[in-house]
Amino acid sequence: MPPPPSPSGRAAVLCGLGSWLPPRVVTNEELSRRLDTSDAWIRTRTGISRRHIAEPGQATSDLAVEAGRRALRSAGTDDVDAVVVATTTPDRSCPATAPLVASRLGLRGAAAFDISAVCTGFVYGLASAASLITAGVATRVLLIGADTYSTIVDPHDRTNAIIFGDGAGAVVLRGGRADEPGAVGHFDLGSDGTGEELIMVAAGGSRQRSTPGEADPQDRYFAMRGKEVFRHAVTRMTASAQATLTMADCKVEDIDRLVPHQANLRILRSVAEDLGLPPERLVTNVESVGNTGAASIPLALADAATRHTVQPGERMLLTAFGGGLTWGSCLLTWPALSRIDTPHNTGGTQAS
Ligand code: UT7
Repeated sequence: MPPPPSPSGRAAVLCGLGSWLPPRVVTNEELSRRLDTSDAWIRTRTGISRRHIAEPGQATSDLAVEAGRRALRSAGTDDVDAVVVATTTPDRSCPATAPLVASRLGLRGAAAFDISAVCTGFVYGLASAASLITAGVATRVLLIGADTYSTIVDPHDRTNAIIFGDGAGAVVLRGGRADEPGAVGHFDLGSDGTGEELIMVAAGGSRQRSTPGEADPQDRYFAMRGKEVFRHAVTRMTASAQATLTMADCKVEDIDRLVPHQANLRILRSVAEDLGLPPERLVTNVESVGNTGAASIPLALADAATRHTVQPGERMLLTAFGGGLTWGSCLLTWPALSRIDTPHNTGGTQAS
């Protein structure tokens, strides 16, 4: 199952992992006090019981810097050639968030750019970061998935306010061999822009400009047609995961862990079931963090690694789906990482 040979003979190898969650925890009970919802409804329909929410004034780059710092420490390096930030909630629409994150991490001079693929951003980011390495453009890349959905979700919108949480997760990739644990690939990436309206922030871009007084305030909020998105999420992630297995000449039985974008527990279980994967191989932390957009896969990886529910050498299949519509999947053999700092245990060190 190693990645396909690249023209350079190099592969991209995951060698560091870090995550960060803002300390404030919002439980279902707290949401039920201000929205027409209940803990029972949220748990049954989504599997979520709490999420972390950024403080007012805390921006995506603040979370990204913390996760990035932990990933660099986990990799034992303070030197990368490129910083990639996958996010739907950049600090500003211009410039990108990555250069600021890079300079705050002491990586001034590194190439830095954002990836905008909504909840598929981390998998698109992995493919981009890996390509920089296999093309010989970079030897080490810091990839961060970070989102503060609380800044774009209408707090009065009970459907979306219950799902989303804020957070950041990061990995460091380095050049290495395709047969090493940590080598990433094969990849399947795709999109279908005819589904643009299913997930959208209507105003603020060049289509519906943010001239004062023009936009309906509601248009500045995240909008999602939940039921349709649910169906697409299941079918697209399943199809993409299957395409990746076919590409790598693998069977689902060869996969030890499925790490899907943490959208909704019902979606994750359906994907595992449709793939024919036993539920115990599903990696999930949606219960404690909600849907954290581009941060969800690295947060799930960090959670599983620190709780030792993934072991070095295990074969993992990552799969994601998001607005666009976009989707993507990737194979990875879990590496032995010397340390992973958990979000609330900054001094702590845990070997995976
Ligand atoms: O990350 C990118 C991809 N995003 C996703 O994958 C999210 C996909 N969608 C979902 O996860 C689900 O569609 C939701 C969690 C958003 C909604 O769950 P659902 O089971 O699809 O509910 P629904 O929208 O069909 O609504 C069922 C009922 C409705 O009431 P009526 O019309 O049956 O009377 C809603 O108004 O539940 C109502 N409802 C709620 N009730 C209590 C919707 N939200 C809530 C709520 N609390 N928070």
